[in-house]
Amino acid sequence: MDTTPEPSEAVGPLDTVDLEDRVKAIYEQVADYPFQEFHFETGRSLAERLGYPRDGLDRIPEEAVDSFAGVGYFHDLADLKPGERVLDLGSGSGTDSFLAALAVRPGLVVGIDMTRAQIAKARRLAHDRGNVEFREGHIEEPSVEDGSIDCVISNGVINLVPDKGRVFAVAARALRPGGRLAIADIVTDAEMPETVTCDASLWAACIGGAMQRGLFVETIEEAGFHIETIRPNEAYQFLSRRAQKATAKYGVTSISLLARKA
Ligand SMILES: C[S@@+](CC[C@H](N)C(=O)[O-])C[C@H]1O[C@@H](n2cnc3c(N)ncnc32)[C@H](O)[C@@H]1O
Repeated sequence: MDTTPEPSEAVGPLDTVDLEDRVKAIYEQVADYPFQEFHFETGRSLAERLGYPRDGLDRIPEEAVDSFAGVGYFHDLADLKPGERVLDLGSGSGTDSFLAALAVRPGLVVGIDMTRAQIAKARRLAHDRGNVEFREGHIEEPSVEDGSIDCVISNGVINLVPDKGRVFAVAARALRPGGRLAIADIVTDAEMPETVTCDASLWAACIGGAMQRGLFVETIEEAGFHIETIRPNEAYQFLSRRAQKATAKYGVTSISLLARKA
C-alpha cells in the first residue's frame, strides 16, 4: 500500500511550521506505534540490512531498535573511542545514541530531538544507562557547549531541516578542532522542481528536502569541514510508489559520510 501523503493542492513557498507539525506527527507514531505501516522502513530488519552488526543491536534496548528509522550505517566511519563525547542530531528513539554510548563509555552521548514522544521513549529506555542523555529541542540550536564534542552523528534527519547550512554550522561549532561529523542522509543527483521542494508532504516523506549531492557537500565544506569519505547506502529503499518515482527521476539516494572539522 502506498502510504505517502498526497501532495498539497497548491504549491507555494514551503510552510515550515506546517512541515514541522507533519514531521512531528509522523515520528510520534514511529515512537509510540512502531509496528504500523509507514512510508519508509523501520526497525531491526532495516538496521541489519543497512549493515548494523547484530551483536551491537543485541546490546541496546529492543524497543529503541523497533523505532529505528535511519537511512544508513556510519558507525564504522565515526570510529568512536572510549571517553569521547558524542552529539546525536535527531536521535529519535535512540538506536544510534545507545550504540555510541557503548562505544564511548565512560564518555557521554547527548541525543537531541524535537518530537516529544521520541525523547520520552528514549529517556525511558536510557534509565539504567549512565552515559547517554536525551534532550528535547531543535538540532538547529543544540544545547551543548561550543568545542565540547568529539563526534557529531546523525541518521536520516538533515534532509528534514530547511536550513541545512545552519545545522552544519552549529555542528562545527559544537565540535573541538579535528572533531568528526559522521552521518547518513538522503541526497539527490538532479535538482528537483518546486512542485517537489515546496511540498510539505513530500518533505515529511524524506524526499522534498533532500539536497543535491554536490550542494550538500559544498554546504558541509562551507561550514568548515573537510570531507574524508562518502559512500552510497544501496541497501536503503524507498517504499512508496511516489518515492520510488522520485528516486528514478531525480536520483534520490542515501549516503553515509565522514567529515572532519579543520
Ligand atoms: C528519520 S527519523 C530518524 C531518527 C533516528 N536518527 C533514527 O535513526 O532512528 C528523523 C528524526 O529527526 C527528528 N527531527 C527532524 N527535524 C528535526 C529538527 N529540526 N530538530 C530536532 N529533531 C528533528 C524527528 O523528530 C525524528 O525523530
